[in-house]
Amino acid sequence: MPISVLVVGGAGYIGSHMVAALLAGGCRVTIFDNLSTGHRDAVLGGEFVQGDLADRATLDALLNARHFDAVMHFASFIQVGESVREPAKYYANNLAHTLNLLDAMVAHGVHRFIFSSSAAVYGNPAQVPIPETHPKQPINPYGRTKWMVEQILEDYDRAYGLKSVCLRYFNAAGADPEGRLGERHEPETHLIPLVLRAARGRLPHVSVFGRDYDTPDGTCIRDYVHVTDLAEAHWLALEYLLAGSASTALNLGNGAGFSVAEVIATAGRVTGRRIPVRDAPRRAGDPPRLVADAARARDLLGWRPRFDALATIIAHAWQWECRAP
Ligand SMILES: NC(=O)c1ccc[n+]([C@@H]2O[C@H](COP(=O)([O-])OP(=O)(O)OC[C@H]3O[C@@H](n4cnc5c(N)ncnc54)[C@H](O)[C@@H]3O)[C@@H](O)[C@H]2O)c1
Repeated sequence: MPISVLVVGGAGYIGSHMVAALLAGGCRVTIFDNLSTGHRDAVLGGEFVQGDLADRATLDALLNARHFDAVMHFASFIQVGESVREPAKYYANNLAHTLNLLDAMVAHGVHRFIFSSSAAVYGNPAQVPIPETHPKQPINPYGRTKWMVEQILEDYDRAYGLKSVCLRYFNAAGADPEGRLGERHEPETHLIPLVLRAARGRLPHVSVFGRDYDTPDGTCIRDYVHVTDLAEAHWLALEYLLAGSASTALNLGNGAGFSVAEVIATAGRVTGRRIPVRDAPRRAGDPPRLVADAARARDLLGWRPRFDALATIIAHAWQWECRAP
């Protein structure tokens, strides 16, 4: 019997890469997505169910009709700034609707869960690279929803035996090496796709928010992790849960930071284009350095990022960007 996985949010950026990886690995895949920010044509196969996590009856019907060995949950709203302006939207979708999913799983005896958490659970880092044991002090509603779900999962494990792996991604980046999938957020807020849109002339310029940080070139440093490597980590987390292992939370990052200026310079070399840049003031809540200590994912899962070179991450994203109209 093939492994059967429900991928919630599988029409989105990271979820669609996951679906492709699960299909390539011979899994039976069902995708549940309301297409609020996802794209139907990003789902390369499997059974697609258009539905909303808000709708418990549809979730119950699905879990009643199918057997799932595990659920991977990618569906949430992801914009930090919007979460500050409209926290209700984030608490409803990222928290309350996730509870619907967890309760439906408990009711139907599905007890393996892989959750897309975020480095945003840590807030302003007191220590870099950031280990999983770092205090959780999220500084915005987006990060708080992720941390609240992680805490709920601890309680659901104790009370209902729901086993979970929370994967705290740093900056997801890159695109399918085969060029079939890539990042398509609207509005786009992530640096690499914005830089590449500017390279292609789809944006007049890319903004650099602050050049006076305490970093070697004065721009902020982030940890970019290839989306295919994220999918690989989910595979390993699935095998980990199927082996009956305990619930856990793991950082997923390259462990190497790259500055905003380095990203722009590397993108210039990879694309052979001039990238128009405009300097802008610092944004509130941007720490100078966010870099993962991902040793635990290496030790526990045997995870080794394959596409950790910044030029490779950007080359794959550029291949995708060049397909945009
Ligand atoms: N992109 C990053 O750099 C990053 C970093 C850290 C964590 N994450 C987390 O990874 C996950 C995936 O991020 P992404 O960049 O792929 O986002 P995305 O917006 O591309 O994908 C989210 C998907 O979930 C679907 N969705 C949202 N609400 C839903 C609902 N109520 N019912 C059904 N479907 C719903 C959307 O239609 C979309 O297809 C999110 O949980 C995000 O918080 C992303």
